[in-house]
Amino acid sequence: LIRKAFTTELVIPEFGRFTQMLDDIYWRLKDRMDGKVADYIPQLSRVSPENWGVTVCSVDGQRHSIGDTSSPFCVQSVSKPLNYAIAINDLGPDAVHQYTGHEPSGESFNEIKLGLNNKPHNPMINAGAIVVTSLLKNKEKLADRFDYIKKQYERIAGGEYIGFNNAVFLSERESADRNYALGYYLKENKCFPEGVNLSETLDFYFQLCSCDVTCESASVIAATLANGGICPITGDKILSAVSVRNTLSLMHSCGMYDYSGQWAFNVGLPAKSGVSGLILVVVPNVMGLALWSPLLDRHGNSIRGISFSEELIRTFNFHNY
Ligand code: DON
Repeated sequence: LIRKAFTTELVIPEFGRFTQMLDDIYWRLKDRMDGKVADYIPQLSRVSPENWGVTVCSVDGQRHSIGDTSSPFCVQSVSKPLNYAIAINDLGPDAVHQYTGHEPSGESFNEIKLGLNNKPHNPMINAGAIVVTSLLKNKEKLADRFDYIKKQYERIAGGEYIGFNNAVFLSERESADRNYALGYYLKENKCFPEGVNLSETLDFYFQLCSCDVTCESASVIAATLANGGICPITGDKILSAVSVRNTLSLMHSCGMYDYSGQWAFNVGLPAKSGVSGLILVVVPNVMGLALWSPLLDRHGNSIRGISFSEELIRTFNFHNY
């Protein structure tokens, strides 16, 4: 980083000026209090709507944070692209796409429906994510599988904070009628590999949604995806180029619930949101951003996060096209 700074090889050479403009966008949205904190489990409903944090991490490892960027919160559906990337990395695209498609579903994230060839539409919605979870190290014991994935999250996050919120896990499991229904529907339609234990698969899915990050650690995750699978902080190569390419392609087309098409049109960047209010935004070969504000719109996306991204594009034109 220091050599690059002296030889002006940094991907964002005027980082200070750049982040000043990010801060301006942040402050413009600070008083925006419309939307609703997720309340389907008590642990999420108790999170303060005031929380608003933005962290950027460039592919050179330049960092900047503003607001509530060191408070932990659960990743929820932002675990989906990570689990998918790890599955593709470990098993290859053919083995994973034998069980899940690549198409936006046009339905809500927890819809009980299958796509072409009786497979879930894509791994960014619950059906596809539950199937992908069933593929992760599925010959091993659940405890070892959990340890392995958490360790991979930590490596992707450059060793920064990854926690586990047991209260969120227990509540998720208790209020998961829809995911159980979806699981049985997938089982009935033979969507899982031979011998998969459904209740263990669902527990594993809930556990991975219940892992905690901070804006700071999540920004390193986004930056590792921006950097082709090499963590910009540690230099550790965790994910293959193809697993990152596939993950970003599906985040681009399917990462933002029912808003994915409009997001791809307005913002034109790969992203993934979760009901805890996190949006992970990737600017390939440039930087990763973590935007966190728990106030959600009717799609389940963070309102400040969406507005921030749209303003970012108006200011810098990172849009792919
Ligand atoms: O499966 C569920 O309902 C949640 N734990 C996941 C929430 C979430 O962020 C949905 N995203 N696609």
